[in-house]
Amino acid sequence: MMTIRPRRLRRTPGIRDMVRETHLSVKDFIAPLFVKPGQGAKDPIPSMPGQYQYSVDTLVTEVKELAGLGIPAVILFGLPDSKDPLGSRSWADDGIVQQAVSAVKSAVPELVVITDVCFCEYTDHGHCGVIKDGDVDNDATLELLAKQAVSHAKAGADLVAPSDMMDGRVAAIRDGLDREGYQQIGILSYAVKYASAFYGPFRDAAESAPQFGDRSSYQMDPANGLEALKEAGLDLAEGADMIMVKPALPYLDIISRVREICAVPLAAYNVSGEFAMVKAAAMNGWVDGERVMMESLTSIKRAGADLILTYFAKEAAGLL
Ligand code: PBG
Repeated sequence: MMTIRPRRLRRTPGIRDMVRETHLSVKDFIAPLFVKPGQGAKDPIPSMPGQYQYSVDTLVTEVKELAGLGIPAVILFGLPDSKDPLGSRSWADDGIVQQAVSAVKSAVPELVVITDVCFCEYTDHGHCGVIKDGDVDNDATLELLAKQAVSHAKAGADLVAPSDMMDGRVAAIRDGLDREGYQQIGILSYAVKYASAFYGPFRDAAESAPQFGDRSSYQMDPANGLEALKEAGLDLAEGADMIMVKPALPYLDIISRVREICAVPLAAYNVSGEFAMVKAAAMNGWVDGERVMMESLTSIKRAGADLILTYFAKEAAGLL
């Protein structure tokens, strides 16, 4: 005699709905967007079907649509008009992200605007900081990161999100923001960011591929789990208001372990390669793209993420 039959709770859609443990919501999403100089531009990114590089005017149209769907937040990535060794266009008051932030905030004030704070899109060598003796110089980069974060706050960003992986950058940015009177601007730290091949399509989208070497001397080794706890702990101690694990799907174990040790909102970045693989398989008819999308996003939330940065935000919002 079998007394326990798990299938009883799977029998009808109503029962399944009632006992479902994880609920995806449009409120979980943060939509990443790329902005470039110009007017009227909406240039498709070939490796990321349905994603575009926008100029500020078309970006505003897009964010209005996203906000209309109930998506609460966007994260902006800038493609500057010119690059140099230090990435100086990243902290310019008239820089592309600064222009985009102020345009978006005035068009849709209630939308949470997050900015990616990094140098790889702005440096001619494509690395995430100042180069010295063939590697990124940690401490020289800190000061410039703070400068960039302050310029984003000045433009009206609600949160800054450093993704460079320099040691001590959360403290440096916090200090820089506080000194300039931006005590209320929060930091969403890319605390646990791996040196991942899943960023491939993003580097086309953001034109930010390193021109020599790779990012292994500053981003984390994919084989390490304990180190994720160390990185998360450091960023929390330095004053991060929220932290992130990136990428998401190959690192669900990490999301769940970090969830256990942090008492702040946890974000996960469903990165460009994760997006591109689903799109490619769906376009070939090899998987049901919509179902794989929803299953992926649900699994990221089930693992413990409160917020999901995802290129699927708009498409998934339409289905929720
Ligand atoms: C660095 C940055 C990267 C991504 C977000 N911020 C790329 C990198 O570290 O090389 C990747 C996001 C994605 O792949 O979707 N500024």
